[in-house]
Amino acid sequence: MHNEHSDTHFQLRIDNGEHIEAKDYMPENYRKHLIRQMSQHAHSEVIGMQPEGNWITRAPSLRAKQILLAKIQDEGGHGLYLYSAVETLGVSRSELIEQLQSGKAKYSSIFNYPALNWADIGAIGWLVDGAAIVNQVSLQRTSYGPYSRGMVRICKEESFHQRQGYEIMAKMMAGTKDQQAMAQDAMNRWWWPSLMMFGPHDTNSPHSSDAVKWKIKRETNDELRQKFIDKTIPQAELIGLVVPDKNIKLNDNTGHYTISKINWDEFNRVISGHGPCNKQRINHHIKYHNEGEWVREAAIAFKKKHTKKELETV
Ligand code: ACO
Repeated sequence: MHNEHSDTHFQLRIDNGEHIEAKDYMPENYRKHLIRQMSQHAHSEVIGMQPEGNWITRAPSLRAKQILLAKIQDEGGHGLYLYSAVETLGVSRSELIEQLQSGKAKYSSIFNYPALNWADIGAIGWLVDGAAIVNQVSLQRTSYGPYSRGMVRICKEESFHQRQGYEIMAKMMAGTKDQQAMAQDAMNRWWWPSLMMFGPHDTNSPHSSDAVKWKIKRETNDELRQKFIDKTIPQAELIGLVVPDKNIKLNDNTGHYTISKINWDEFNRVISGHGPCNKQRINHHIKYHNEGEWVREAAIAFKKKHTKKELETV
């Protein structure tokens, strides 16, 4: 049912801070907006396993390997919670995967950059997961119930991820000159792409006005980016890392750091499929998704058998 009355009532519920649940009335565009954002979020979690997965066999100690394995498994789990939450909106998992593999659905720009060495694993945990948390803490209060509840759980795990990354960076900065140089090089390469994770400037963000009106977004792209910048620069300085931006300045009046202009050409190149690893990431996903076909078939066959048995015993 769609009529003006339902839309007004829906907006009143949003304005009152209520959660919208799967079976509640929602305007079609709200549903579509959520499917787009939540599925892209799920894809990001799953594709995000690739740059780190590459380092499991080369982790420098058993402890480091265990932590990295646990973290990557968490990311896979986040993808699954999010896919399940999207499915409550009436779209199938296979449809979502098809959108990812055909390039119709995006995933976070950040996962199109390569993880070249162990310091990158530190930088990914600290900066990439650090940026993800700032965004996701805010999304805990998003208006769609299943998304909001998923975020609460995801944030708990994400803060462990950020800390493990920062620990790697701190350890390297307390190490040899070569280790310090590796950590600084990783910082130089991951800093700017991490800032791009928050999306275009608010003035250039087509989805923001609906997202804010419907309280899908509780803070804007620029507000969240600023929070991340303000939190992260002191963390870098504490362990002796230099932020790769000569124009960084703390504004004493506002308490916020100002930074140089972000390279939006690079961002646009990466999100339109021309980043350093876009093709590799999608080809890898397609390969392993196809190889996993038998697992999905076995799960369906098992479910059928089980349901038949249940029916026979009724
Ligand atoms: N990477 C790839 N695409 C992006 C990015 C990015 N960093 N930022 C914006 N975009 C895309 C949007 O998806 C949109 O494209 P679309 O119309 O094809 O969907 C376009 O750029 C315009 O951007 P906005 O209007 O600002 O889009 P939106 O309001 O959706 O804001 C944001 C983007 C902030 C990423 C939002 O979708 C969001 O909060 N998503 C949930 C969090 C998330 O996905 N995190 C993933 C990384 S964290 C992790 O996985 C560990």
